[in-house]
Amino acid sequence: MNESRPKSMSAFWMPFTNNRDFKADPRLLVSAEGMYYKDVDGNQILDGTAGLWCVPCGHAQPRIVGAVREMIGQLDFAPTFQMGHPAAFDLAEQLMDYTGHKFGHVFYTNSGSEAVDTALKIALAYHKARGEGGRTRLIGRERGYHGVGFGGLSVGGIGPNRKSFGPLLPGVDHLPHTHNLLKNAFSRGEPDFGAELADELERLVTLHDASTIAAVIVEPVSGSTGVLVPPKGYLKKLRQICDKHGILLIFDEVITGFGRLTTPFAADYFDVEPDMITAAKGLTNGVIPMGAVFTKRHIHDAFMEAPAGIELFHGYTYSGHPVACAAALATLEVFKEQRILDHAKEIQPYWEDAVHALKGLPHVIDLRTIGLVAGIELEPIPGKPGARAYQALKRAFADGILIRTTGDIIALSPPLILEKQHIDELFGKLANVLKNLD
Ligand SMILES: Cc1ncc(COP(=O)(O)O)c(C=O)c1O
Repeated sequence: MNESRPKSMSAFWMPFTNNRDFKADPRLLVSAEGMYYKDVDGNQILDGTAGLWCVPCGHAQPRIVGAVREMIGQLDFAPTFQMGHPAAFDLAEQLMDYTGHKFGHVFYTNSGSEAVDTALKIALAYHKARGEGGRTRLIGRERGYHGVGFGGLSVGGIGPNRKSFGPLLPGVDHLPHTHNLLKNAFSRGEPDFGAELADELERLVTLHDASTIAAVIVEPVSGSTGVLVPPKGYLKKLRQICDKHGILLIFDEVITGFGRLTTPFAADYFDVEPDMITAAKGLTNGVIPMGAVFTKRHIHDAFMEAPAGIELFHGYTYSGHPVACAAALATLEVFKEQRILDHAKEIQPYWEDAVHALKGLPHVIDLRTIGLVAGIELEPIPGKPGARAYQALKRAFADGILIRTTGDIIALSPPLILEKQHIDELFGKLANVLKNLD
């Protein structure tokens, strides 16, 4: 047996994992560089998912690794409650640059889940600060994923994630999801049908009255439920309805932020400006946990009109952790110097063509692409939902590619640094896997 294998795998209760199945036949990663992981047996595994959507600049990026090493030696921890350190302020300014100054402020968290719960709390407190404390209702969307805190779970729309943990937050509604295989299968970019589903928000306003609604939160592209791309015009419509009724619009960009759609944020791609953006993952290239909430100036400013004192009773011990800030600053430098977004844009058509070339393979009922993302939907095995895609994940790993599955959908989201040869390798191997599934 290889020396690096754990002596026992019993004690680690793994997240979002079929623990018993995994431990019987584990997939263990021991190192990573650029586009590849190496597994415990020394096999190269091409990373088709940027870890968990979180490594846009590739693994072991030397500049980011160096910045982290340096900061750990210099300032291992510093509080940001009534105290501060320069990197947290420098990063905030750099992040405002990255947003093109469409946002005025950033609140740091440690994860996407915390960013979502923070944004929801800011929305409620913002309305209260302006004398509209009756606006307490939150609206999410079916098939939305907003992490695993009670706020994010409540606005999230994934049954299995919610069903064991109630009661969740009261006063929450959900818009319908926009996935429509009958009308939109095999779309490139935004599908044609479904913008009118945004009008469901008007229905909820009529039902509850706008004066009770604080915020709407959506993922611009739903990732965790299998790459659900918004129909043409849908997000603009949501923005218009929110504006009309004084409702805040939050884009959860934990996966779409930091270049996934070839633009800084999905908000730029769709040309829609939300009031807040939640982010995490690519913010530090996945190297150190960090999340963030970007807020428009008017939101932050509403808090600054309160009598002198702490303006927002919220924060985490590790908000703005110096090592995370160093990783994020270095990530932004890499984005700029290595023209990561330009490269993603250049390679995107090749990516899209490679995905759509899978059309006609056994069990493939949809292929959808946007930016450097792909959703490959498989016909489920009757009576065994998810089994076919899970089989694909295991066989793909054995063949040297890392893919991700949700239900019977394969979701691909590689590091943005990938080159044509990686695309050829990924889809060459994936095609073979698809041809040989049960
Ligand atoms: C859209 C979205 N929001 C929130 C989260 C939660 O982020 P985290 O796992 O960092 O808490 C995720 C994670 O995948 C996500 O995709």
